[in-house]
Amino acid sequence: MKDTAVQVARDAAELVSKAREAMLTGEPVRVDTKTTETDVVTAVDQASEQLIRRRLADLRPGDEVLGEEQGGSAGSGVTWVVDPIDGTVNFLYGSPAFSVSVAAQIDGVSVAGAVVEPVGGRCWTAVRGAGAWLDGRPLRTSAPRRLDLALVATGFSYQAERRARQARVIASLLPKVRDIRRPGSASLDLCAVAAGWVDAYAEHGLHRWDWAAGALIAQEAGAVVSLPGEDTDLGHDATVAAAPSIAEELRATLIACGMKE
Ligand code: IPD
Repeated sequence: MKDTAVQVARDAAELVSKAREAMLTGEPVRVDTKTTETDVVTAVDQASEQLIRRRLADLRPGDEVLGEEQGGSAGSGVTWVVDPIDGTVNFLYGSPAFSVSVAAQIDGVSVAGAVVEPVGGRCWTAVRGAGAWLDGRPLRTSAPRRLDLALVATGFSYQAERRARQARVIASLLPKVRDIRRPGSASLDLCAVAAGWVDAYAEHGLHRWDWAAGALIAQEAGAVVSLPGEDTDLGHDATVAAAPSIAEELRATLIACGMKE
């Protein structure tokens, strides 16, 4: 299933990369809004998801697909969970920090996944129980000694109320860590934990397609990962991934910073 995830994510990444080139030379891209005026979907997100769905229908007929733009639901067998562009706002602004994320889930649990960066072509993969890789090289998290020496990534939702809560947590966390990063693509943030490029990542309110591949990659690289609904002390909608050496300290600090409220 990893090979299928890689294949379809790479095909979609090629489409997205070509569309980006055209956009950067001035070709207009249709942009619609979703839950709020800043929550956008471009024609390229839609074309990418359509391509992935077509490829999966050929390669894995009978499997279910759950995608950010066209929805879907999990079935009793394999469900492919797809974010056709994770980091759509970065894409729209011409920033290279976005990805195509594809994961295979069984009973809601990711068993294989791929995160491909259309710009530069990096390919992050994982298989449950077997490991995580960046372009074939095995991944391992960092091992910071303490939370105050840790670099922590985060992200923000498109909902005003949730953003206010996120801002309160980050304001309390900031003096307790080395620094905060907000790169703009949840799947890549989780991959960054896997590679040790950041020591941890925490965000409220991710959707399944944002974390399905990246969380498996982080976990298989040794991170302690908590998914929405798994740790009620962090609230019902928290995603946290941390290097094991600081995972307990981060969890206690996030709770003290009001992650649950
Ligand atoms: C968003 C990005 C962002 C995260 C948001 C996500 P999208 O996904 O992953 O980093 O902070 O919560 O919704 O909308 O670009 O696919």
